Amino acid sequence: MKHNIKITPVQQSKVGELDFNNIPLGKTFTDHMFICDYENGQWINPRIESLHDISTHPAAMALHYGQAIFEGMKATIDVNGIPLLFRPAKNAARLNFSADRMGMPHFPEDLFVEGLKQLVALDKNWIPPQEGSALYLRPFMYADEHFIGMRAATHYKFIIIASPSGPYFNKRIKLFAETKYIRAAQGGTGEAKAAGNYAAAIKPSEMAKAKGYDQVLWLDAHEFNYIQEAGTMNIFFKINGEFITPSLDGAILAGVTRMSVIELLKDKGYKVTERPISIDEIIKASKNGTLEEAFGTGTAVGIAMIQDIGYKDSEIYVSDENPVGQMVLDTINGIRSGKREDKYNWMVKIEGELV
Ligand code: COI
Repeated sequence: MKHNIKITPVQQSKVGELDFNNIPLGKTFTDHMFICDYENGQWINPRIESLHDISTHPAAMALHYGQAIFEGMKATIDVNGIPLLFRPAKNAARLNFSADRMGMPHFPEDLFVEGLKQLVALDKNWIPPQEGSALYLRPFMYADEHFIGMRAATHYKFIIIASPSGPYFNKRIKLFAETKYIRAAQGGTGEAKAAGNYAAAIKPSEMAKAKGYDQVLWLDAHEFNYIQEAGTMNIFFKINGEFITPSLDGAILAGVTRMSVIELLKDKGYKVTERPISIDEIIKASKNGTLEEAFGTGTAVGIAMIQDIGYKDSEIYVSDENPVGQMVLDTINGIRSGKREDKYNWMVKIEGELV
């Protein structure tokens, strides 16, 4: 279905002020934003306007009850200057999966992709051309009804903002396996991309950073033994030639990068198993020399090589080299920049029909 998105471009772009060689994630935003309102059971008034503040009533329900979800995506640009989106339909579907869990309305998936395409087409000059950099896209939905009682809201906003970003980590990283706080339990909201999941992770993450680690490694809520995911990424271990990643057990986010890496590794001939994996198994593999690689996968981080994991009072040494992790990173970056063949049909080109 073709949607009628009202587009009001800015008179003067601010892109000239951007230093493309120094763009930390999430600090700079493009000229425009996409907005759509939910009222009387319908999404109405899809529009692209200049990036601006949104006035918020102090009783807006998202502020009190956290009815808020989001997605993370990236747009890149190929050598011919054509903007590319990475598997946008997967994020559109996941947003609605999260919406279901949080008692929020679905957002039309074709409008999600159409809004992204129009926004990226308009802000295409903000896409960093360097391999490994991208225009980070943040679609999100929140309850903006003014109401104090506790029930599903009747008014929501769906917004997409865009922020040019360089690589998230420029180094191998250290994780801290958390044994006091949890991220999620089965039946909770861990498999949704709900804002509250990240809110609850902030204190443990700050504590891990104060100890010199980059992110928390979350363990299961019952035994603090089975690995779930890390701060902003899913996790893969290579043990004795085989890749293992925690199975999606209802408490883990189904990462779009995770599913792409599984596809890629299998295609390259690696065995990949999705199953519960315990920290005890990692300690044992580290000690007997079969823990060959570990890396995290996520939209913002891309592929982050893991050097070691702090657990209780000891360090689990992982490795100083990630040959397969590096191959995965180079392949995904190559496909994203249009320099490698997109044999998996991941990329969606933005051309033709747009502004
Ligand atoms: C992403 O990787 O896109 C995320 O949503 C993580 C975010 C907290 C930086």
